[in-house]
Amino acid sequence: MLSLVNKRILLGITGGIAAYKSAEIVRRLQDAGADIQVVMTSAATEFITPLTLQALSGHRVHLALLDPESEAAMGHIELSRWADVILVAPATADFMAKLANGEGSDLLSTICLASRSALAIAPSMNQGMWRHPSTQYNLERLRGRGVHIFGPTEGSQACGDIGPGRMTEPQDIVELTADLFETGALAGRKVVITAGPTREAIDPVRYISNHSSGKMGYALAEAAAEAGAETVLISGPVNLTPPDRVKTIHVTSALEMYEAALAETVNCQLFIASAAVADYRPARIAEQKMKKAADQMTIELVKNPDIVSAVAALQNRPFTVGFAAETTQVEDFARSKLERKKLDLVIANDVSDRTIGFNSDDNAVLVVEMQGAEAIPKINKSILARQLIARIADMLPTD
Ligand code: PMT
Repeated sequence: MLSLVNKRILLGITGGIAAYKSAEIVRRLQDAGADIQVVMTSAATEFITPLTLQALSGHRVHLALLDPESEAAMGHIELSRWADVILVAPATADFMAKLANGEGSDLLSTICLASRSALAIAPSMNQGMWRHPSTQYNLERLRGRGVHIFGPTEGSQACGDIGPGRMTEPQDIVELTADLFETGALAGRKVVITAGPTREAIDPVRYISNHSSGKMGYALAEAAAEAGAETVLISGPVNLTPPDRVKTIHVTSALEMYEAALAETVNCQLFIASAAVADYRPARIAEQKMKKAADQMTIELVKNPDIVSAVAALQNRPFTVGFAAETTQVEDFARSKLERKKLDLVIANDVSDRTIGFNSDDNAVLVVEMQGAEAIPKINKSILARQLIARIADMLPTD
């Protein structure tokens, strides 16, 4: 499946008649899931307006190198670092010459010079210009430097000539761009992950919670996004920065997490419940701060909905993975959760060991399936998350 989910593409447009097709390139890249920033040369703006590209890409179009306002928002160096791929379509003979000579005379050529990302160009020019020895010499120099050349194709040209120099069609350009990426193991999939603790309010200043830091769930979300998944992270209150390229929904209580999980699970192929959800919440939340009076106090608790079980019970259920935080008989209890909650997989951790599990950088887990269990020894949570995501991706049913 053609997927550019989580991919950042900087589309450079130079001044050729094929510039009008850039609008379609933007649309098709977006259909494949890419995030796009557009940079135009001043000649390109004679063929298509920046406003059109801004409306389509959803971002302000970048036009000038020495524009203090643009540099303050997203400067040329930032843009060169932002892009996973720079795609110049159409690329004129003049722009190819600039690139081949390593010039940094405008915003687009400067970004190409500063960037270490993959660079692809879709040449477009009159057949005589394309055949000219200077253009062919520049082409070979660019190829030699690893620049990807998409086309051109042959046919009738806007000027009336027939021959090579027509820009490759937008859909072909998008497919060739997608080929530049190694497709991640979760490309084209939607993954929803719960993380962190929940807080169950007692009164305006007190709550019941636990020691989950969210590190395990955030690492899983990062690994899923890295593997190309459209990733949604539903996070309880933690002190972590949301991972890049992940839609993060912040919640506080188990009921809020439950609602967000069920809403986000639509069209999702994988659900991972790593959150430490409070099993109970106070039956009533006092409106005012409760005052100290008697020597003893009793708080009535009611059961929270079980989020992972509710997802596993859905008619069109995703592949559903639960965690099990145990302090004893880890495998037995994990297996009983697998069966009782009707999960596809349970990742069990022994939370009696303070160096793993809750609020630590490392974890050691037992991956429990119906047919067996496999231990993954103590390792950093980010590395563990990548290993778990790779394993789970292999277990997902193919479309
Ligand atoms: O956040 P960290 O500090 O990195 O710590 C990671 C962790 C220890 C929290 C994590 O590795 C972990 O074990 N998460 C699950 C904790 C837990 O609540 O386990 P449980 O055995 O009580 O619950 C079993 C499963 O049911 C879990 O997938 C849990 O998310 C889910 N559950 C539980 C209750 C509930 N009401 N709804 C649920 O979905």
